[in-house]
Amino acid sequence: MTIYKGILLLVCCVFLVIACEKPAEETPAQKVDPIEKGLEIYTAKKCAFCHEDQEMLASGKVKDIARPVIATDTMFVQTHLKFVEASQMPTIKLTGEELHFVSLYITSLHRMKYQTATEEVADAVCPVCAALVQKSEALEEGLSFSFGGNTYYFECAECMYVFQQAPVAFKNK
Ligand code: HEC
Ligand SMILES: [Zn+2]
Repeated sequence: MTIYKGILLLVCCVFLVIACEKPAEETPAQKVDPIEKGLEIYTAKKCAFCHEDQEMLASGKVKDIARPVIATDTMFVQTHLKFVEASQMPTIKLTGEELHFVSLYITSLHRMKYQTATEEVADAVCPVCAALVQKSEALEEGLSFSFGGNTYYFECAECMYVFQQAPVAFKNK
């Protein structure tokens, strides 16, 4: 009799353990980083074949894809890719989802290339490309600009130049 009781107890314990187990973690697909996803598409579609080709860059056939105006104009990037037939770029078919992610990736390139401040030290954000900036560092490098009673700080001279051309377009960002 005690043996049966023992077995019964054991079975109960096993059930309890199974029932109490945590639900499975979210699937990785739900946690995907959009920028990483964009990079995957950029790589799979061989965008770098032209856009990082030194000869094509030097000849001006393609312009630097990490220039600040690209970082500020998601609409321009999306429109270009949507209506690529109307440009001199060969047509590359992208699904709506691919278009979304690859545009996010491209518009993040400038920030990723020039941002030097880490989250710990940053006390400002570039109004043009959203790069993190450390005010003291920007001041030292002459990368600050006052407009409308506010001072703006930049991670690179290109962004400061873009801002100075049309401060009103960026000052509320
Ligand atoms: C075979 C070469 C080639 C490939 C591959 C290519 N591009 Fe382009 N791309 C060009 C050229 C040339 C232009 C300039 C065309 C124009 O402005 O009319 C251009 C322009 C662009 C622009 C407009 C922005 C700018 O710099 O003026 C974007 C955005 C862009 N390409 C994104 C992509 C993406 C994303 C991919 C991959 C899915 C890609 N390209 C693949 C040749 C290429
Ligand atoms: Zn910037």
